[in-house]
Amino acid sequence: MTAIVTVRGLKKSFRDGDGRREILGDATFDLAPGSINVVVGPSGSGKSTLLNLVCGIDIPDSGEIVIDGQAISGLDETRRTLLRRRKIGLVFQFFNLLPTLTLWENVTLPIQLNSLDPRAGAERLERLLDLVGLRERRDEFPEHLSGGEQQRAAILRALAHEPALVLADEPTGNLDHDAGARVISEFTRLARAQGTTLLIATHSDALVRAADHVLRIENRRVVPHGL
Ligand SMILES: Nc1ncnc2c1ncn2[C@@H]1O[C@H](COP(=O)(O)OP(=O)(O)OP(=O)(O)O)[C@@H](O)[C@H]1O
Ligand SMILES: [Mg+2]
Repeated sequence: MTAIVTVRGLKKSFRDGDGRREILGDATFDLAPGSINVVVGPSGSGKSTLLNLVCGIDIPDSGEIVIDGQAISGLDETRRTLLRRRKIGLVFQFFNLLPTLTLWENVTLPIQLNSLDPRAGAERLERLLDLVGLRERRDEFPEHLSGGEQQRAAILRALAHEPALVLADEPTGNLDHDAGARVISEFTRLARAQGTTLLIATHSDALVRAADHVLRIENRRVVPHGL
């Protein structure tokens, strides 16, 4: 099966004083369609850096990233933004819900941004809201939602336009153990139901157990982690 994400020889360094510090030296891996993948490694090893490169928010020094058959290095900023909007959903550690929009307005935003059929999109999202127990909270603004509710909303928003790929950075980083476990099982269940590939940076053992594949950043490389 063709990989949904192909990464080859990725290098990334940041300026450090007068020199540069290499974070990723030769990252090479593939993600299979519909697979659930986590990336682990010590704090500062480059997990968030890797996600930022894969979604095209940041640019590598060299190497190749292909998303669903499209090499992102060949795209200008506008085309990278379009690719991200259409094919990728993002979940950040601090949720990043827009504070002036209600929960419902937040989760339906990707449908509008991609000019998808609003009626079909709304029906899907209504079902998803039910599945994750947020129907009654749909007209609340983010500041009135608990951390777990905001996190579930952020996950729904990332999945709303049925992207090929969802990237999540520490999606349970701010939740207690039980809330984190619920979010993990809902996230992986929804992703499996719609065949979305997940790449999740995490320190959570529960997410590592829920994954099909574990990648580890070690010595500036991405290596398979024994399961
Ligand atoms: N824009 C930047 N400019 C300079 N250095 C950066 C930049 N972004 C990240 N770094 C450095 O790169 C290294 C890797 O950072 P990154 O955020 O990818 O780590 P991480 O594995 O996600 O860590 P954590 O588990 O703490 O989230 C860190 O030392 C960080 O300080
Ligand atoms: Mg990080």
